[in-house]
Amino acid sequence: MTTIKHKRIELPDLPYNYDALEPVISKEIMTLHHTRHHLSYVTGANAAMDKLEKMREGLGLELDYKATLRDLSFHLSGHKLHSIFWTNMKKPEKKNIPSGAILEKLEEQFGSFEAFQAEFAAAAKSVEGSGWAILAKDNEDLHVLEIQNHNLLGAVGVNPILVLDVWEHAYYLDYQNDRGKYVDAFWQVVNWGDVTARLAR
Ligand SMILES: [Fe+2]
Repeated sequence: MTTIKHKRIELPDLPYNYDALEPVISKEIMTLHHTRHHLSYVTGANAAMDKLEKMREGLGLELDYKATLRDLSFHLSGHKLHSIFWTNMKKPEKKNIPSGAILEKLEEQFGSFEAFQAEFAAAAKSVEGSGWAILAKDNEDLHVLEIQNHNLLGAVGVNPILVLDVWEHAYYLDYQNDRGKYVDAFWQVVNWGDVTARLAR
């Protein structure tokens, strides 16, 4: 029998109903995205941990170690990013502008809020294939990074405070192949209160 030593991951609840982000993101997308896609990353990360524990107990001699570590990196990163993404959003508002500490920081580091928006949107729109745009905190600095899949082209040790999923599963049902339109609409649902709280951590 396997002794569980690593805590298994559970799918976190959304902080709002599946229809809360309409019309920017539909109930249908949110339901599938949370209950199928995010769940698959939770399941995948746990499966990789299961395999590694069996290996440690001498029961996993056939294990493809490299592939299992690749699975752990991909699925664990997918889980982490989605968990931040859900809390980064809220009910849409047409004029949804940040204020206070986050606005000051964005102005200090990017010139203006609009300049930051343009940079973040450019990252989101230029991801090749599946990935994310992220705003990440590194001590006192903020960096925009473009993540491929869930775990490539990032930077180790930085803390994402705002993330945008640009995998097709995040927008295709609502926007078809028009990723740009989805990225531009995203600003209406950004929960700047959550981003500000993450900045302060
Ligand atoms: Fe996703």
